[in-house]
Amino acid sequence: MALSYVGGKNRIAPVLIHPNIHPHLDKIDKFVEVFSGAFWTYIQSDEIYKKVDKVIYNDVNPYMTNLFRCASDPKTFSKFIDEEKIPRQKRGYPELSKPCKEFFDKCKRELFDGDTDAAIKKITKTLCEDPNLDTKQIVDQLRKLREELKIIKDEDEKNIELTNQSKEERINSIKDKINKLLTEKKCKLSARAIKLKEKNELIEKREKNNNDLRDKFGEQIANHVPDQKAAMRYAYILTCSFSGINPVYSEFQDYKGEYGSKFQAFYNRLTSDKFIPRLEKIDTCENMSFEEVIKDHDSPTTYFYCDPPYWNTESYYSLHGFGEDEHKQLKKLLTSDGFKGKFALSYYDFPQLSDMYPEPKFRWERKEFVKPAGAKEGMKQSTGEEVLIMNYPKKVLDKTE
Ligand SMILES: C[S@@+](CC[C@H](N)C(=O)[O-])C[C@H]1O[C@@H](n2cnc3c(N)ncnc32)[C@H](O)[C@@H]1O
Repeated sequence: MALSYVGGKNRIAPVLIHPNIHPHLDKIDKFVEVFSGAFWTYIQSDEIYKKVDKVIYNDVNPYMTNLFRCASDPKTFSKFIDEEKIPRQKRGYPELSKPCKEFFDKCKRELFDGDTDAAIKKITKTLCEDPNLDTKQIVDQLRKLREELKIIKDEDEKNIELTNQSKEERINSIKDKINKLLTEKKCKLSARAIKLKEKNELIEKREKNNNDLRDKFGEQIANHVPDQKAAMRYAYILTCSFSGINPVYSEFQDYKGEYGSKFQAFYNRLTSDKFIPRLEKIDTCENMSFEEVIKDHDSPTTYFYCDPPYWNTESYYSLHGFGEDEHKQLKKLLTSDGFKGKFALSYYDFPQLSDMYPEPKFRWERKEFVKPAGAKEGMKQSTGEEVLIMNYPKKVLDKTE
C-alpha cells in the first residue's frame, strides 16, 4: 500500500514469499495474514486475490486494522481524502514542507498524547540549551586547572624562586579554584538530574497515555465501523515519517522539495485500477491477537501467512509486547496436531528457530537480501537472510501446468 512499515515485506514478497504461496492456493478458499502490518504480501500479489474467495487482514494494532478497513473500500476512502484537501509534499515545491509538517503534527496530536509529547520536547530543549544545566565549560576549566597544578608540582625550586608566590601558595590557590568549580558542577549536575527525572516520568506517562488511547481506539473499532478520519491521519503519519518506525514517536520527514509525497503514492493505490480489485477483495479486517485469529479461521482450506515481529526486535512494535513466550505460543499453535490449515512463516534465522521448526518436517526456503536502512535514520545497510518456513512440500508442477 506504499506504506513504509517496520518489517514490511515489500521487497522480499515477490522473490521469496509469492513463489512459495501462489502454486499452493488451489484448494484454498481463505487467505489470512495473521500479522498483516502494511499487508505487503497480499497487496503486492497479482494472484492471491484472484485465486481465493476470502481475504482476512489481522493486526493487533487497531490503528492499522482501521486503516485497512477503510482501504478495503477504496472508492469511499479516496473520496473522503479528496474532501479533506490534505497537503502533500511535492518535488520542486519546498514551500509545501511547512503546511505538511503542521498537518503531520496535528495528526499526531489528535491521535496520540500530544500534550505530554510537547512537554517532553520542551524539557529536551532545556536540557540541551539551558546554561544552568551545562557542565561542559566547567569540565574544560577543571581540565586546564589540573594541568596547571601538575606543572607547578613538577617545577623545580629555581623556577619557583622567580615568582612572588611560594609553590605551596600557588598550589593552594589552584586547589581553591578547583573546589569552587567542583561545587558549581555538583549543583548543575543535580539540577540536570532533576530535569532528567522529570523527562523520564513524562516519557512513562506518554507511553501509558498512548497505550490507553490505543486500547480505547480498539474498543471504538470493535464494532467494525471504520473511522476514516483516524485512518487518514494514521496513513499520513506513516507516510510522512522515516520508514514508519513507531508512528507514535515519529518525526516529520522533510523532503525540502526534493521528492514527492509518499502519502500521494498511498492515495494513488486507492484510486488505481490495478489495486482497487484486490483492496475490495479484503473481506474482514480483524483486530485480534494471533492466537484468536488462528483459532477462529483454521480449516483445511485456510492459508495462513505469518510474519511475526522478529526475535529480539519486539520493541519496534511498542504498542504491544511480543517476546519469547509469544513466539513459542505461535509455534505451539502452528505445529499442534489439531492445526488443519497451510502456513508459511517468515523469520530472520536465529539459533532456536531450527529446534522450533525442524527440517525436513517443515520446509525451509532462504533468501539473502539487503536490509532496508530503515531501522534507524543514518544506519548503514547490511545484509541478512530471510527464511520462509512452511508446513507443506514444494509443489512439483507436472508438464501440463
Ligand atoms: C513484521 S510486522 C508485519 C509486516 C507485514 N508483513 C508487512 O509486510 O507490512 C509484524 C506485525 O505484527 C503485529 N503484531 C504484534 N503483536 C501481535 C499479536 N500478538 N497478534 C497479531 N499481530 C501482532 C504488529 O503490530 C506488526 O504490524
